[in-house]
Amino acid sequence: MQILTAISSPILTYRVAKELGLDILPAERKKFPDGEIYIRLLEKPDREVVLVQNTYPNEGLVAAIIAMQALKSEGAEDITLVVPYFGYGRQDRKFLDGEPVSAEAIAKVLSKYADHVVLVDPHKDYIADFFDVETKVVHAYDALIEMLYRADVDIVLAPDAGALDRAKAVAKALGVDWDYLEKTRISGEEVEIKPKEIEVEDKNVALVDDIISTGGTLIEASKALKSQGAKSVVAACVHGLFTKFAIHKILESPIDDVGVTDTIEGPLSVASVSSTIARALR
Ligand code: R5P
Repeated sequence: MQILTAISSPILTYRVAKELGLDILPAERKKFPDGEIYIRLLEKPDREVVLVQNTYPNEGLVAAIIAMQALKSEGAEDITLVVPYFGYGRQDRKFLDGEPVSAEAIAKVLSKYADHVVLVDPHKDYIADFFDVETKVVHAYDALIEMLYRADVDIVLAPDAGALDRAKAVAKALGVDWDYLEKTRISGEEVEIKPKEIEVEDKNVALVDDIISTGGTLIEASKALKSQGAKSVVAACVHGLFTKFAIHKILESPIDDVGVTDTIEGPLSVASVSSTIARALR
């Protein structure tokens, strides 16, 4: 069995390969002047191949599709597609008439080529049900715990009720309390965090969430918590998209420290989900 990434995850792929003792299938990659992606496998693939590829940004999704087409046409019979960050996962249902369920549309397309799928912390676990092939969901709890282990955390908070399960799992492992904040999304870029009766005075608070996009959620939460007397606010999140100068804004905000995993490889990827993925592939 070999492993490769199309374009998104060279470091994570290398880490998983090391953990499982897999060979990396070499490939050539380039971008045409019009922005289209080119991928060529440089060796005949084994019968079983693991492809690690995000469906984000859009070219990541295209890269996943064309890499799987190449693998199948070169003789691979069993492809496990590992999606560290499943893009379009936030449109996991129809919020307004006329909208697509984007997560379902993408799952159906990927199911044409993948024989098995592993999703790391998709926005909702039920996204797995949109696939037509066997699909496992794994959670990045170990990486989040590793990030917070040395932070002397007193309480773990989710920015909204929907993220509470993740915060609870991390808090239990750290042996501290957990709760959630009241978040209202005003627009794609603006959120409001309402003060809530949580005792945070003089406490070290950890915010745990799945995605950092604009950073608005964490910034507003940290402001609310600091105004309620929190001693420190650190954030540990799974997927660091960091759109629209988010890193600049976060580092200029009251947040004391922030870390994400390597589902999206970036400068703040301080913990790896490689062991979690390796466990799912064994
Ligand atoms: C929302 O449902 C997610 O769990 C995140 O809280 C959200 O995507 C974060 O976005 P932003 O960083 O733009 O506030």
